[in-house]
Amino acid sequence: MNYPLWYVPLLGAPMLIPVVALIHVVVSHFAVGGGILIWVGVREAQHRGDEEFLHFLRNFVRFFLYVTVVFGAITGVGIWWTIGLSSPETTSALIHTFVFGWATEWVTFVVELVSVMGLYYFWDRMKPGEREGVAFLYALSAWLSLVIITGVTAFMASPGHWVQTRNFWDGFLNPTFLPGVLVRTGGSLMITTLWAVFYLSWAGTEEDRNRILQWFSRWAALGALLVLVGGYAWTRAVPVYIQERLAERPTVFLVSVLLVGITFLLALGLWMSRTLREAATVPAVALTLLLVGFAGQMAGEFVRESFRKPYTIAHVLYSTSVYASDLAAWQEEGSLQRGRWIRWAAERVTGGNIENLEDADPEVRAAVGEILFTYHCSVCHTRRGYLAILPRIRELDREDIADVAANPPDYHPAMPPFAGTEEEAGLIADYLVKLGGNR
Ligand code: HEC
Repeated sequence: MNYPLWYVPLLGAPMLIPVVALIHVVVSHFAVGGGILIWVGVREAQHRGDEEFLHFLRNFVRFFLYVTVVFGAITGVGIWWTIGLSSPETTSALIHTFVFGWATEWVTFVVELVSVMGLYYFWDRMKPGEREGVAFLYALSAWLSLVIITGVTAFMASPGHWVQTRNFWDGFLNPTFLPGVLVRTGGSLMITTLWAVFYLSWAGTEEDRNRILQWFSRWAALGALLVLVGGYAWTRAVPVYIQERLAERPTVFLVSVLLVGITFLLALGLWMSRTLREAATVPAVALTLLLVGFAGQMAGEFVRESFRKPYTIAHVLYSTSVYASDLAAWQEEGSLQRGRWIRWAAERVTGGNIENLEDADPEVRAAVGEILFTYHCSVCHTRRGYLAILPRIRELDREDIADVAANPPDYHPAMPPFAGTEEEAGLIADYLVKLGGNR
């Protein structure tokens, strides 16, 4: 809690991450999968002398360039803004741990931009070998950036030996790194196929639709297999507490497996049946398929994010921005003393006296309770929106609420231990009773 908190009504600041990520994830995976498939496509088409396929790819690259550079790059910067503002402590921990990882990622990003633009603008002027080379350079740099980001995001779920050694490579090559790379690479191939179906629904000739979709569908099938294998490995590699939480709520997981399985069968169907290929490229169907693909990807990210609670970095950093290793000190000294922004805000509503709040005016106690609630609870609970606190306290009296606030993990495993004193939990209860508890 070294940073002031940014309170977003209805949604909660951390929920902004999935909102921005929604766009970024579907576009950035297209940027990787599209890179790989454009390279493989250019290679095959040139070796076979398949002018029609090459012509298709040239046009597809323009579509690809607009989508990935415009939306991918803007939302990529957007993600930095949102995570920096909504989870500054986690962002800071990640930057400190992976500073060279980020630096490398920016290099791959620049190489990506230059090579994809080179591919598009110099397409006609390049010799076949050069075109293949540039396409390969793009595919490689885009995939490497996926690998780097996966190392960092996987680290949050499973920091592994890093916890003891604080070594960059222990953190980067963490237990869920490889499963993550498999899932994301597979997901890239799947979503790229859906983008291609969408593109083909209004571009290209009928013959293109038939042949090219058949070509793409094999890659979607391969992608689905990678996702299944990687997904299974991921469930074996996450820390035990995440495994337990997954086991408690198996539906989320079974639905994901089912969706990927259906996608695999759909890809096989597209490969084998011309009728199915024609049906898939009807614009409304193509758009629906793409949206279902988006939803599937979001579900995957949601599983990764939500099962990690109560931590943002498993066993290291709680969602409340308190390091697990500091918890005892927070509980001992109190968050009014330790949390510099909590103290700053509390001094303003109490006129500087934050010592003897026992006897303070009820209004003052509730005001301090609101500040404590904001820092300790509102990273997850909004008042009336997402995970709203109001309906959850309506039936509880002051004593019940004080008990939840003082011992959150007893009530739900996603809630971190309270990083403050019993008295502070009481202040939160005063505020919540005033807000709408059972008086
Ligand atoms: C890391 C996220 C997170 C934090 C921080 C958090 N909670 Fe929760 N809380 C949850 C989740 C998830 C649930 C379960 C919601 C559900 O399934 O309905 C929950 C449930 C609750 C409930 C309902 C309990 C019950 O038995 O039904 C109350 C009350 C509550 N939280 C209060 C608080 C208070 C007070 C704080 C701050 C001291 C807090 N929470 C901090 C995530 C969090």
